[in-house]
Formats: sequence, C-alpha cells, structure tokens
Amino acid sequence: MYSFVLCSCLALFATTEAAGPLAQIASGPAACASLTSSLGANKVISSQLNPNYIETTYNYWNSKQSQYTPSCIVYPVSSQDVSISLKAIKAAGSRFAIKAGGHNPNTFYSSVEDGVLISLEKMTTRSYDSKTTLATYQPGGTFGDIYEYFLQYHRTVVGARLAGVGTGLALGGGLSFLSGQYGMAVDSFRELEVVLPSGDIVTASATKNPDLFFACKGGGGNAYGVVTKYTVQSRPAGTFYAGNLIYALQQNNDVLEAIGNFTSYNTDPKASIIGTYEKLLTPETDFNLDSAIVMFLVYDGPDPGKAFDNFTKLNPLINTMGQKNYLEVVNMPIPLSTQITRGYNIFRVAVHGDPASDQGFIAHYNAWDAWCEANKGDYVLSSVDFQPIAKSLTDASKTQGGNAMNMPSGPWIWLNFLINTPPTQSNGTYNAVQESFRDMVNSVQNKAGLPLFLNDANYDQNPLKTFSTYRKLQTLKKRYDPDGFFAKHTGGWNFNA
Ligand SMILES: Cc1cc2nc3c(=O)[nH]c(=O)nc-3n(C[C@H](O)[C@H](O)[C@H](O)COP(=O)(O)OP(=O)(O)OC[C@H]3O[C@@H](n4cnc5c(N)ncnc54)[C@H](O)[C@@H]3O)c2cc1C
Ligand SMILES: *[C@@H]1O[C@H](CO)[C@@H](O)[C@H](O)[C@H]1NC(C)=O
Ligand SMILES: *[C@@H]1O[C@H](CO)[C@@H](O)[C@H](O)[C@H]1NC(C)=O
Ligand SMILES: *[C@@H]1O[C@H](CO)[C@@H](O)[C@H](O)[C@H]1NC(C)=O
Repeated sequence: MYSFVLCSCLALFATTEAAGPLAQIASGPAACASLTSSLGANKVISSQLNPNYIETTYNYWNSKQSQYTPSCIVYPVSSQDVSISLKAIKAAGSRFAIKAGGHNPNTFYSSVEDGVLISLEKMTTRSYDSKTTLATYQPGGTFGDIYEYFLQYHRTVVGARLAGVGTGLALGGGLSFLSGQYGMAVDSFRELEVVLPSGDIVTASATKNPDLFFACKGGGGNAYGVVTKYTVQSRPAGTFYAGNLIYALQQNNDVLEAIGNFTSYNTDPKASIIGTYEKLLTPETDFNLDSAIVMFLVYDGPDPGKAFDNFTKLNPLINTMGQKNYLEVVNMPIPLSTQITRGYNIFRVAVHGDPASDQGFIAHYNAWDAWCEANKGDYVLSSVDFQPIAKSLTDASKTQGGNAMNMPSGPWIWLNFLINTPPTQSNGTYNAVQESFRDMVNSVQNKAGLPLFLNDANYDQNPLKTFSTYRKLQTLKKRYDPDGFFAKHTGGWNFNA
C-alpha cells in the first residue's frame, strides 16, 4: 500500500510545476478551506468518513482509482459553482480532477490524490423543447438516467450503449447504437455551456466560440474547460428489435467473418452491432467454458429485415433477440452490467480499415487470443470488442459539421481491448502483466490515417496524435488553457506527444 501510494505521488509531482512536494500537498487543503467558506459546508466534503465522500470515491469503474484520497470533494450545482471552484483551485495551486460518471480507467483522469475532486453528480437538470426538438442535459447522472428522462417525450439522445456510463463519454466522441443514423454523440451537439480554465462561463456553438465548440466535439474531456450543459438534437425512440447472441468460442472464425461482412457490406443505418469475445480466468477445459462470444445486435425499428441474418444463421447457443424499448436495449445483456464489472480494469484501443481489404482486425484478434491462452491466471477477464464504423456514420458526422476526429469515410473498425486483473496480484506482477498486454496490442499495426478512439484508449496510446486535426487541437488547447492550469494540475490526454 505504502510503496504504491509513494510511487503514485512521485509520478504526480513529476508532472507538476516548480512548487515542491510539500507545497503541493498543503495546497489541496488550502483550496478546500477557501471553497468551504465560499460555497458552504454542504457543497464541500472534506471528511473521508462522510457517506458522500465514501460513495463518490468508491464510484469508479476502474476500482484502482478508488484508492486515491482527495483533500475534499466539491459538489457544484451550477456553472457559477464550477467557476468559483476552478478559481479557488488555481489560486491555491492545488491539483484537481473533474468527475462525471467515473468510467475512464486512466489514472488521474477523473481521480485525484491530495487535491480537489469536482464531482458533477449533483448537476442533473434536463429539459426538452417540443417545438425545436432540442434536448438539454447537465453532466450529472448516467446515460441510463438521461434516456429515462427523455423517454417520457418518446425521444432520446445519442449517448452510451450501456446505461451505467457517464456523460464524459460525449466529450470523447461517444459511440452509440444510433450512430449509424446520426453520427457520434458529439455530432448531435448544438450548444455547450463551458466554464473555461480562467473561470469564465461561455457558450460554444457553430456560431459562438466555434473553435471551442469544435474542440469539445471529441477533442477530449478536462482539456479546454468544464462542460456544464449540453444542448443536443434529440432523436425519436420507439420500438427496437435487439438482443444478444451467444456462441461457443469454437465458432470464433465464422463469427469474426460475419463481423467483417457486416462492417463491409451492411448498408442499413438502423442496424448496429458490437461483437465481444470474452475470456475468463477459469482454466481451459474440453468444453471451452472459459470463453464466449457475445454479440450485441440492435435495430432501430420493430423489424430488422435481413440485417442480422449472417449472425443468426450461425446457430448461436443463446438468442435473446426480440422487441425492446430503448432502456431495455441499453441494459443488455443484464441490468447493472457496468456496476458488476467494476474492478482493476484497463482499456486499450486499435483501429483497422474496411475488412474487405484489411485483415488487421483478425491479426489483432489472433494476438489477443494467443496472449490470453499464454497468460492464464494473470487476469480475471479479458475481452476484445469489435465496433464497426459505417459509412452512414461518417456521412452523418459530415452533414452535421464534422467533429474533432475529422473521421475519414467508413467503413472501418475500432477494437477495444479490456483486461481486468485480480486485486490480489502483487504490484510487481500487475505492472508486468499490464506491460505484456500493452506489447500484445502494440504488436499489430493500426491502420494509418484513422483516428484512435479516445473513449477506449490508454493514456500511453496518445490518441489525439492520431487525429488529422491534432495541430489545430494543440493550438486551441493553448488558447483556452493559456497558462497550462489544466495541463499541469489535472490528468488527461497529452497534447505534447
Ligand atoms: C462499461 C463501459 C461501457 C462503455 N460504453 C461506451 C459506449 O457505448 N460508447 C462510448 O463512446 N464509450 C463507452 N465507454 C467509454 C466511456 O465513454 C469512457 O470511459 C468515458 O470516459 C466515460 O465517461 P464518464 O463520465 O463515465 O467518466 P469520467 O471518468 O468521469 O469522465 C471521463 C473524462 O472526461 C472528463 N469529463 C467528464 N465530464 C466532463 C465535463 N463535463 N467537462 C469536462 N471534462 C469532463 C473527466 O475529467 C475524465 O477525464 C464505456 C466505458 C465503460 C467502462
Ligand atoms: C500494492 O499497491 C496497493 C495499493 O496502493 C497496496 O494496497 C498494496 O499493499 C501494494 N502491494 C505491495 C506488495 O507493495
Ligand atoms: C462472408 O462473406 C463471404 C463473401 O464475401 C462469404 O463467402 C461468407 O460465407 C460470409 N460469411 C459469413 C459468416 O457471413
Ligand atoms: C451477409 O454476408 C453476405 C456474404 O455472404 C453479404 O453479401 C451480405 O451483404 C451480408 N449482409 C449483411 C447485412 O452484412
């Protein structure tokens, strides 16, 4: 415990400016004292025994982030509160973190040791305007909560495919089951309220601060400011035809081929899939009980036609397809799956071209499969997910003004690798396993010219650098964070890679 905390503190100081370690530690409590007097004790919790403090620091999908102890947690209820918080943190020279849903697995992206944690969880105001069909939501709550709110109007917003994920998803692009029709979550942004690192509260849209708007459309969270309100184009939410197909791993090659065919040839924007291959820690047996293939198939409409025939014809062991409402869709395969999978989780991402001409996704699958077999016992769960990016998605992005990824025309495919490791593992083994998993992912080349997906990336993959807009984003980062307040005092994506 001690050596780990010490190591992480050293890493932390290495990334902060001139002030010595002791000044850094004292600055957290100083910021908290100042905030307690300006915001009041019910918005600033410093006691580690307070139930709110315990819950907010527990609530990370990568439970390693729960080991850090912020000097205090601030619960703003307005953009003014966020502005006051940033100014006080800056004046004290403290570390800080901005937390929405707490699902980003990377260290110090939404967690902080000895500094101020700004938890946006109490900002949950939502509204719907039936004349304009625009929806607004604040950053608090999960996408499940947000979808539930808008369903009273038979509408939804483009957001997470799993109910439990938080709104930070949108700032990393945001891939939804509806993306084939409407583009990424950011493509439906119409106006954002942003608290800049200076503390100024501004509006960003296609006409007001358009550069800031561009950067916030997928250029990463906690980089240019804090988004306190999203105004987005809402979308109709009716009856879906959706479910999971589960196959034995012996069918891996056929299912992979079907995923490739769907990515290359599906032209129905209402049809969406994720293919997930999972390996558990259970030892290999003759029945392959340690592994499974779980397909998520979602059609926006009551009848999918032939869209999924290439998957159903492969005779899955389990088929839960049927008509569902949107809340049921985002709770597949079972409700609370986001909460259940909390643990020592780390993500990595890869990208490959159209499977009709680029077999990189299969090479990456084979590398992952071989690694998992060779490293039994080092993980509780490992998975690789296949996420096709359709031409209809990139077209929908373009017609709405494009986004910070400047996505080249589909089809192409993002892969998400997950490793969940046992909490009992020694820190030395943990680090060795992470490095080995990283080397496995790096052993297969990504397709050049395609962006890595921020939401699935490990910090060391420097995904922003793969964007064709990287130079522009670097310039905008300097403009909106001119003295490097965010760059030096909170975690997040590297703009200097
Ligand atoms: C189980 C699971 C399912 C997922 N499914 C999807 C999916 O379907 N589609 C997809 O695109 N991604 C998905 N992801 C990835 C997910 O988008 C990222 O993990 C994302 O970072 C989560 O956002 P959050 O609010 O939960 O996390 P947080 O860790 O709280 O936030 C993520 C980052 O954004 C910053 N941030 C958050 N809110 C703001 C704000 N208002 N202003 C400024 N900065 C902010 C935080 O500081 C942090 O750095 C999934 C992840 C998990 C674990
Ligand atoms: C590893 O780090 C964790 C978290 O800080 C700590 O609890 C544990 O004692 C450390 N183990 C070793 C062997 O250093
Ligand atoms: C994939 O497409 C090829 C032809 O392009 C076909 O031969 C094959 O049967 C298809 N596989 C699946 C599983 O759909
Ligand atoms: C299914 O695979 C066949 C090739 O066997 C392909 O022609 C067809 O377009 C595919 N359909 C979909 C919806 O992916």
